[in-house]
Amino acid sequence: MGHNLLMTQATLGEGNTPLVASHRIGPRLGLRRLLFKLEQCNPTGSYKDRFIAAEVTRVLAAGARGCVATSSGNTGSSLAAYAARYALPCAIVVNESAPSGKLVQMQAHGASLVRVRDFIDSAEVTQQVLATLSRMSQDGGLALIVSAYRHCPVGMAGVEPIGRELADALGAPPAHVFVPVGGGGLYSAVARGLEGSGARVHAVQPAGCLTVVAAWERGTTEIVPVRSATKISGLAVPFDIDAGRALEHLRACGGLGIPVEDPEVWTAQRLLLAEEGIYCEPAGAAALAGLLRALDGSRLGPSTLADEPVVCVVTGHGFKDPDSIAAAAAANPGVLLDAGELEAYLQARMAA
Ligand SMILES: Cc1ncc(COP(=O)(O)O)c(C=O)c1O
Repeated sequence: MGHNLLMTQATLGEGNTPLVASHRIGPRLGLRRLLFKLEQCNPTGSYKDRFIAAEVTRVLAAGARGCVATSSGNTGSSLAAYAARYALPCAIVVNESAPSGKLVQMQAHGASLVRVRDFIDSAEVTQQVLATLSRMSQDGGLALIVSAYRHCPVGMAGVEPIGRELADALGAPPAHVFVPVGGGGLYSAVARGLEGSGARVHAVQPAGCLTVVAAWERGTTEIVPVRSATKISGLAVPFDIDAGRALEHLRACGGLGIPVEDPEVWTAQRLLLAEEGIYCEPAGAAALAGLLRALDGSRLGPSTLADEPVVCVVTGHGFKDPDSIAAAAAANPGVLLDAGELEAYLQARMAA
């Protein structure tokens, strides 16, 4: 096909995302060098654009006639955008409860969107869907897109620069990096990008879907499938896709496995909104929730972290999950006034 002759590098300007210093949370915790890597600044609002740019480049070069993908939302949002740009037909299978911000992205870009009952929550149903799509991709010239090394190693290599970008921006590798874990692909990519650098990359996973962290705590290599009970979109992957791989990296770099309850993640999301101006989806706040848990449980003493560069990877945008933002906004309703009432209202409000 034409693409083989002239290789198209698929891109929408992903990568090289900002690394910003914490202004309020870090100082309050006694951490002088807490930083946030803002992956929600990627073109479709999550780190998945790094994956999709690399994977779509591969798919175009292979001359596939289209793509079928599984997603909890962000892979689908990203694929839909890049597929629209490169005229690649795509169908995306998501779980029933995928957040509306992610679904409308897929629809607006013209992808075929299929929600499948019990997909993601149930390991069995998820494996059944994967088996169906794998078979179709083998038989019919369709590329199977799953954001994991197990299925798409070329795309996942596109995520690895996150680690290198951190070291470049800081002038040296960070001492500690906190990364949210769903299937474990993102964690593996960040750990690979920092391999041999001395950085400890910590894996933060919802307590309602502990695959990597449970095995890390048990001290075994076996990833036991679970029934996912977490509501954090993007982090509910109940069996081993890249979990075994992530676990190996976790042990090799001396990182911690940190479980967090869903309410801790929502609290961290609200802290980022209210104290750092960072508008992220819940999964994007999980890294901070893990840091708070690690400090609270004294697994990392604040004194050991005080002067070290500590990075939380913020993986997805607040626009993705309007319900979670609405819950945060509900505590702070606006008012409707006549113009004549404005000054008195503002005087009282700003004096408070
Ligand atoms: C915003 C966000 N953060 C983190 C993750 C977790 O990535 P992984 O499944 O590779 O562990 C995802 C995956 O969908 C995600 O969408």
